Amino acid sequence: MTNYIEHKPAMAKQVAELLINIEEGIYVDATAGSGGHLGLLANTYPEAFFIGVDIDHEAVQFLAEKFASVTNVRIIRGNYADLPEILHSMEIAQVDGILLDLGISMHQALSAQRGFSIKNPGPLDMRFSVDQKVTAYELVNSLSEEQLADIIYRYGEERRARKIAKAVVEARKVKPLETTDELADLVARTVGYSGRIHPATRVFQALRIATNRELDNLQEALPRIFQMLKDGGRLAVISYHSLEDRIVKQFFKTWEEEGKGLRLTKKVVKPSLEEISENPSSRSAKLRVFMKGVGGNEN
Ligand SMILES: C[S@@+](CC[C@H](N)C(=O)[O-])C[C@H]1O[C@@H](n2cnc3c(N)ncnc32)[C@H](O)[C@@H]1O
Repeated sequence: MTNYIEHKPAMAKQVAELLINIEEGIYVDATAGSGGHLGLLANTYPEAFFIGVDIDHEAVQFLAEKFASVTNVRIIRGNYADLPEILHSMEIAQVDGILLDLGISMHQALSAQRGFSIKNPGPLDMRFSVDQKVTAYELVNSLSEEQLADIIYRYGEERRARKIAKAVVEARKVKPLETTDELADLVARTVGYSGRIHPATRVFQALRIATNRELDNLQEALPRIFQMLKDGGRLAVISYHSLEDRIVKQFFKTWEEEGKGLRLTKKVVKPSLEEISENPSSRSAKLRVFMKGVGGNEN
């Protein structure tokens, strides 16, 4: 597949060290993206078998081509929340490790037509999968001012949410907001510039989370994913903002208190300054890893 922008995997070394506990095990990369983590893992552990899952059709097409001749990798399209059904369809009862690298891939972030980008103007889309019915366009142009303010405040942690929602509703009375640059410019005019980060960054994060139901999906998925781990199996999650990280942290803490296993990362793992300078998009990454079982309950 031409023109596919490959993602640089965050904290790849730490992921491999904490995720792999049996060299001949079965592992799932449930957000395979452009196969950065997956390729490194499959190469380093040739005796293990890896299943790469992604919800995005474009990513899956790229992955299928990239791993076509790699015998220990199989690629499947799907939502990580449906991992029990995906593994069941492959007649796999449980696995030794599961990786979730949340957020968006470099390709999604930079592709104008996917509508995630402030820099490269495109339609207000923001869906991870074209199968999803609701786009960011629908949210921006149909929600009430109060609903929009609520989404921008909760998912973007943007304190000027009310002012921005009011400006959106005023603007769309004249004509619907259709593109990422129309929205980004409107937000910039409404709140002004301060600092190096574009003033619409938090609004874009909020709309992306809402369009894809990212936090609800994560909340629903974690217990289902946990069931699919063998005793001693590990779940590694990389998150990129505090809302996701809070959910992961809370589940891991509760599971440990309930005797379901152990947190292998008592303190969250972050990329080194060297990694951040080589791969700036890793700067907000946080890795947490949980090990199931080991004397605890199995469910
Ligand atoms: C940060 S990227 C992963 C990059 C990957 N680790 C790599 O090294 O190339 C996140 C990926 O998760 C996918 N994704 C988001 N939500 C998903 C979901 N609910 N189920 C499966 N994949 C999802 C996105 O489509 C995107 O490709």
